[in-house]
Amino acid sequence: MKVRAAVFASGGGSNFQALLDHQRPEGDWGVVLLVTDRDDAGAISRAVGASVPAVVIRTTGRDAAVVALETLHLLERYRVDLILLAGYLKLIPREVITRYRGRVLNIHPALLPAFGGKGMYGMRVHTAVIESGAQESGATVHFVDEEYDRGPIVAQRRVPVLAPDTPQALAARVLEVEHELYPQAVDHICEALAAGREPTPITEKIK
Ligand code: GRF
Repeated sequence: MKVRAAVFASGGGSNFQALLDHQRPEGDWGVVLLVTDRDDAGAISRAVGASVPAVVIRTTGRDAAVVALETLHLLERYRVDLILLAGYLKLIPREVITRYRGRVLNIHPALLPAFGGKGMYGMRVHTAVIESGAQESGATVHFVDEEYDRGPIVAQRRVPVLAPDTPQALAARVLEVEHELYPQAVDHICEALAAGREPTPITEKIK
């Protein structure tokens, strides 16, 4: 069985693009849907370019239960098996996490559990890494549960922090690694899912 993935993205969607570029017709998984919370998300034009349906689900000022129901209906309509968060800045409704337990992945631009948690996103992560004096950072793919950035880690890859470094330069270095790591981690997870096995983390770090 081929795994049907929905990507959730709020921003430019370069990780979404990396996933689109990596999927193969004969592979274990394919992207069948883009979900975004913003009309102006750059990810939308990438979806259009790849003939992937893009749906905006607004969350701001709306009842969380209604958003959850709308999201679940959409995922059902597209027979989605796996959710891939790629720069999605809103909290995934609890009902969706419950329905898709063990089937939601995220990519974070640091070596979790360090530099994660509520409020740790975008340049804030890279600024915090540099200010801490850490000599390395990296990217982490992890399962998503109810807590921010706390679910089991699937794969990580290291990136050096250079002196002198800027948050922007570090972000670009990490992003390059994200674009390789996320599709590889999805391959790994979907190989198991497609074979009817429960996915396990990549125990050794992907080099
Ligand atoms: C990435 O750094 C990712 O780790 C984080 O959000 C950023 C999204 O970038 N969760 P992009 O929209 O994929 O370019």
